[in-house]
Amino acid sequence: MDQAHFAADEGVSNDSPNATFADILSTDIARRRLLQGSLGAAALGFVPGMAAAATARPSVKLGFKAVPVSTADAVAVPEGYNVDLLYAWGDPISSGPAFKADGSGSAADQERQAGMHHDGMSYFPLGKGSEGSTHGLLVMNHEYTDDGLLHADGMKTWSAEKVRKAQAAHGVSVIEVLAAGNRWKVVRPSPYARRVTASSPIGISGPAAGHALLQTKDDPRGLRAFGTFNNCANGQTPWGTYLTCEENFNGYFSSAKEPTADEKRYGLKQGGAGYRWHEFDERFDSAKHPNEPNRFGWVVEIDPLRPDSLPQKRTALGRFKHEGADVQIAKNGHIVVYMGDDERFEYIYKFVSENKFDRQHPEANRHLLDRGTLYVAKFDEFGGGVWLPLVHGEGKLTAENGFPDQGAVLIRCRQAADAVGATKMDRPEWIATHPKTGEVYCALTNNSLRADEKNPGTLNASNPRAKNVFGHIIRWREAKGDATAKKFEWDIFVLAGDPKHPDEAQRGNIKGDVFGSPDGLWFDKTGRLWIQTDVSTSVINKGDYANIGNNQMLVADTVTREIRRFLTGPSGCEVTGIAGTPDGKTLFVNIQHPGESPSERADPEKPTAFGAWPASQFGATLGGRPRSGTVVIRREDGGVVGG
Ligand code: FEO
Ligand code: CA
Ligand code: CA
Ligand code: CA
Repeated sequence: MDQAHFAADEGVSNDSPNATFADILSTDIARRRLLQGSLGAAALGFVPGMAAAATARPSVKLGFKAVPVSTADAVAVPEGYNVDLLYAWGDPISSGPAFKADGSGSAADQERQAGMHHDGMSYFPLGKGSEGSTHGLLVMNHEYTDDGLLHADGMKTWSAEKVRKAQAAHGVSVIEVLAAGNRWKVVRPSPYARRVTASSPIGISGPAAGHALLQTKDDPRGLRAFGTFNNCANGQTPWGTYLTCEENFNGYFSSAKEPTADEKRYGLKQGGAGYRWHEFDERFDSAKHPNEPNRFGWVVEIDPLRPDSLPQKRTALGRFKHEGADVQIAKNGHIVVYMGDDERFEYIYKFVSENKFDRQHPEANRHLLDRGTLYVAKFDEFGGGVWLPLVHGEGKLTAENGFPDQGAVLIRCRQAADAVGATKMDRPEWIATHPKTGEVYCALTNNSLRADEKNPGTLNASNPRAKNVFGHIIRWREAKGDATAKKFEWDIFVLAGDPKHPDEAQRGNIKGDVFGSPDGLWFDKTGRLWIQTDVSTSVINKGDYANIGNNQMLVADTVTREIRRFLTGPSGCEVTGIAGTPDGKTLFVNIQHPGESPSERADPEKPTAFGAWPASQFGATLGGRPRSGTVVIRREDGGVVGG
């Protein structure tokens, strides 16, 4: 979701004084660079190491005609492509129960149906070779709910049943999918079909497992959490598991008490939470259950091939507002996971496993994410950077500073990153690694507060724009191409913006089609970079965003930097979640919160006031309420999508 409503709308939990570039270099230098019309050598890709890297990057084909910006209530794809609806909110994961278009389905129904607000997604082939490209599992997140659409009368009445239904509409879906001819369908019934929801049992593993700060009345050992929610982006491991990332968990907790400094650092507030779970499920009352919020904000590993397996919260990857988890096998065999913390002025992290990936013994990889070192990124002003370890006992991460053990470092991960002096970024969203060069790209979606009067001195070369309304994509290359390296070189791949914007600073430097607020990033096998946007519904198609149309998906050639628009979404949606088959011929994309009201909560009496997708595009039988959904994109000639 965007941060406008349910999340930390003030948007800044990080008031640590010690972590901005103001400490490293005076703001004057950054400002001078902006005044020069330059964004610094690094920002333009003129860093020696990066320039050399550019020559090693293979160019890719963008073999499609761009689609224009759109405000239509439909998904548009290029000429010669088909788009089909596969799996929308309320569709059964296996046999039954059917979706009820008026929102009257029960909580028990919802537990066996697609959740709301589809987000990050991965495809797992079933079968070998070409068979794996026509038959597989799709695993996807359901980030949050619009309770105005979820229940027949919205939130006008409130009950334990509605809370249970809302919890069941969160979490993760596992569905089996099969291509029959040119059309994909959900296999029903399927032995793999599964929902993990906001109340499913989930193990807690890694260095913080059992920690005193994770113990609760219902789980005195601190080893078993209940549920996962606000699952935003995702990751996929080489041993065949899915990673789902808990983002704005703070918005689900209510408290009658003034929050502590630690609670504030994660955006917990005094007062009632908009989701109103606490009214019928006491564990969401954080005054009564102060450790319950500590059990969220993690990366959760799910094995989709074993429907009975217990998902695990992998605490070694740290606790923050996780966006996604990009998993790589380093040249030396260690596993590396890149992760963003999506809030204004938060950080970019990297986990390096202690043990190596073992291709021959899949079982040996099951706990690779439980032991290793978590690092946080510090970008310097000259195109270089370092990964700072978050290790108990090193530097300021000691008991005197509130870090008595490694568990505390991971649970208070943001405070640990503050303490080591990491770089505060413009909302790190998805991270994606080029499959051939190992170069890593991160979407910094926007930060309207950068360098404003409340945040003076926060401009720096890696976040070079004051009031960054359009966002940018930064990229880095690890030293010697080693993903486990402690140093890197970086540059800014693109500053998004509108070339027609009256304010020169907001025009950006896109070589190609206009967009803003990049969020989803994904590389296909050949190295095409897919970019998905999340402009908040409250600002889309007006003001700064008057010329940019509905949220969209674009494709970039990382060598030429050309960016071409491939898809536009329906009214009120975010485009997020992308996965492809191994042959590259099918692309799955998620359309989240179509028809969303600018207030982010629908009026159940006028549910289609702001859009009626997918019924608007695929037929009225799909029901009277907007529904998030997975679409399938194929080329009419059966070729590689985007190629
Ligand atoms: Fe759920 Fe940061 O997007
Ligand atoms: Ca979202
Ligand atoms: Ca976003
Ligand atoms: Ca996102």
